[in-house]
Amino acid sequence: MDVVETNQKINSSKKRVLIGITGGIAAYKIPLLIRLLVQNNYEVKVIVTESAQHFVTIETLSVLSKNIVYKDFFNEKYEWNNHIHLADWADIMLIAPATANTLAKLAYGYCDNLLLATYLSYTKKVIIAPAMDAEMWEHPTVQENIKTLKERKNNIVLPVEYGELASGIKGWGRMVEPDFIFNVIQKVIFKANQFNNKKALVTAGATYEPIDPVRFIGNRSSGKTGIAIAEELAQRGGEVYLIYGHIQVPLPHHPNIYPIFAGTAQVMYDACVKYFGEVDLAVLSAAVADYTVENVATSKIKKENDNLVLHLAKTKDILKTLGEQKKTHQLLVGFALETENVIENAYKKLILKNADIIFANISSAENPAFNVDENELIVISKDGISKSLGKHKKYILAEKIVDEIADQLKK
Ligand code: CTP
Repeated sequence: MDVVETNQKINSSKKRVLIGITGGIAAYKIPLLIRLLVQNNYEVKVIVTESAQHFVTIETLSVLSKNIVYKDFFNEKYEWNNHIHLADWADIMLIAPATANTLAKLAYGYCDNLLLATYLSYTKKVIIAPAMDAEMWEHPTVQENIKTLKERKNNIVLPVEYGELASGIKGWGRMVEPDFIFNVIQKVIFKANQFNNKKALVTAGATYEPIDPVRFIGNRSSGKTGIAIAEELAQRGGEVYLIYGHIQVPLPHHPNIYPIFAGTAQVMYDACVKYFGEVDLAVLSAAVADYTVENVATSKIKKENDNLVLHLAKTKDILKTLGEQKKTHQLLVGFALETENVIENAYKKLILKNADIIFANISSAENPAFNVDENELIVISKDGISKSLGKHKKYILAEKIVDEIADQLKK
């Protein structure tokens, strides 16, 4: 894992790590991790569950973290250990080792100890490092819980290692080593600041072209991908103009996201042209109508004739226009929906519209791309190199998309 590079760019102010320890033998490794974090200028606070205290002492954890250790909703003086304050305090949360019992409780939203209450109040990234015996790890219930936790946007569930286990047998279930966890923490913290001082414009959703006051020509885009990209950029420190059309999902509430409604191709074009000059990057994921109705009826069209002919005129191509206006410091990202010769056609679009990256949707019966939770994407860059991002839930694809954008911005 590439720690060195990310290390140098991390904001110099101390980052705060909240570690939740549960009752597994691997808890003995957490003091080493705490020492590593403190030596590297992190501030650490620890919550222990009742059973964790059989494996590691509060005194050790307190001395190494240089902080008091939290173990219950109330301390010895009957003062409330406010889990919301703990959650607000932390830049990142880690649960390690996470036992089968805690994994089940995390998956189902249980809240019978301070650690679980804090997890439920936490909105930033949570790293979960499972540890247990091989039979337990392989049990279908545990695997289902792992799957559930992995599907939640904020969780990063770490793998387990193969090796000698507490029972004496060899198998899968060992917690990953402290330096592995440390590297993951470094990466997550680095990513959380990756787009600091960057402004972005993101389009999302469908445009509806009116036919008359009650009818329109539209498409099945839900806006999920664009909105997930806007959220991902904002969570990594970017400021985002989210220019959205008609969407099937709620608008995100994030202080870094400025939503601007643009319901037709022309309104979206005007908004994009207005804000493009201010931004470092633009991601055009909206499904903009290619044609609009020429003479929109001012009153509802009546069913008087057997045929109705609508005259359609081409809309302005937003991506192409921004490609013409693009300055050298700006990165322009487009999408392409293709049913055949995906890479070739998407690359042609990239060249024609002067984009820097195109994410190509493969539209087929197996991958409808629109109005579904999952999608398969191929990324194509200006140098003609393409690679598959695989088929994933759209919010996971959004993370991969933003990773690719970050890579291109570095070049
Ligand atoms: N796009 C745009 N303005 C339009 C139409 C499309 O900015 N009026 C953008 C889309 O947001 C997307 C890219 O262009 O980022 C490609 O869209 P796509 O529909 O795949 O391609 P088109 O250029 O419309 O070409 P065609 O439909 O012929 O494949």
